[in-house]
Amino acid sequence: MIETLGIVLENKPLSKRLYLMVVDAPDIGEKVKAGQFVMLKVSEGLDPMGRRAFAVADVRDSSLLIFYELVGRGTFLLSRLKGGEGISLFGPLGKGLFNLEGNKHLLLGGGVGLAGLTLLGKKLRDEGKKVLFVYGGRTEEHLGMEGWLWEEGFEYILYTEDGSKGRKGLITEALKEFDNSWKVHACGPKGMLRALKSMKTGHDMYFSLESRMACGWGVCLGCVVKTTEGYKRVCYEGPVFRAEEVFF
Ligand SMILES: Cc1cc2nc3c(=O)[nH]c(=O)nc-3n(C[C@H](O)[C@H](O)[C@H](O)COP(=O)(O)OP(=O)(O)OC[C@H]3O[C@@H](n4cnc5c(N)ncnc54)[C@H](O)[C@@H]3O)c2cc1C
Ligand code: FES
Repeated sequence: MIETLGIVLENKPLSKRLYLMVVDAPDIGEKVKAGQFVMLKVSEGLDPMGRRAFAVADVRDSSLLIFYELVGRGTFLLSRLKGGEGISLFGPLGKGLFNLEGNKHLLLGGGVGLAGLTLLGKKLRDEGKKVLFVYGGRTEEHLGMEGWLWEEGFEYILYTEDGSKGRKGLITEALKEFDNSWKVHACGPKGMLRALKSMKTGHDMYFSLESRMACGWGVCLGCVVKTTEGYKRVCYEGPVFRAEEVFF
């Protein structure tokens, strides 16, 4: 991992809540693997303290694509950055990565959690594997990354809780339609991951977890999650874990 100064090429809203930032950061773009993330310094001062974690959703040429939702002060400041400005990045981070074995892969992304799976989808497709994305959100407004799926030519199913786009319901429903020959990878709100785990469908399933992170590289212990082998750091041993292994 390295600390580098990236140049913002683009930073634009895709919907009221979701932004896409394209950052030229070749040092990280060349190294990043599916499942890894970066810590961004969202301001020069101490407001807010610390960096913020974001999945590298895609790499095009030497540029990183980062999809982010407006949550608090940090992401608000991020959304103010303009093309041509610099941003400090730290990464790529995370050692626990996805299991690429098997020929059929179901990728379940809840809201902006989809950003944790998109690079995986590309990697699997490059390896000639079958990839199907399932992307869900509360309303159509929460499906701001559909354009990426479309542009990249992936097969996908959409779900919204209110039925404003795609199928009406929760994406957890989709799991019932696929037998255990499919490997499942999921990223999204904790409630969604808990529901998937509780379905006990017997799928070989992997979760990319989020946690509040201060350092991002294993030092502060702020991000730990309970596992069958004791506490593990989401930023270091994760962010990807076998579903059976984690309790949250
Ligand atoms: C490995 C990893 C990858 C991530 N990838 C993405 C991504 O690709 N796109 C994206 O939009 N977000 C992603 N996140 C979440 C992102 O880091 C937070 O949304 C961001 O740090 C919020 O910063 P803020 O200053 O705007 O909000 P803050 O002011 O820090 O927080 C505002 C509110 O959000 C809650 N919150 C903040 N961060 C988290 C978190 N990580 N988990 C749960 N609750 C949180 C806080 O408790 C608080 O209530 C990722 C997080 C991790 C750990
Ligand atoms: S964020 Fe510091 S140990 Fe994980």
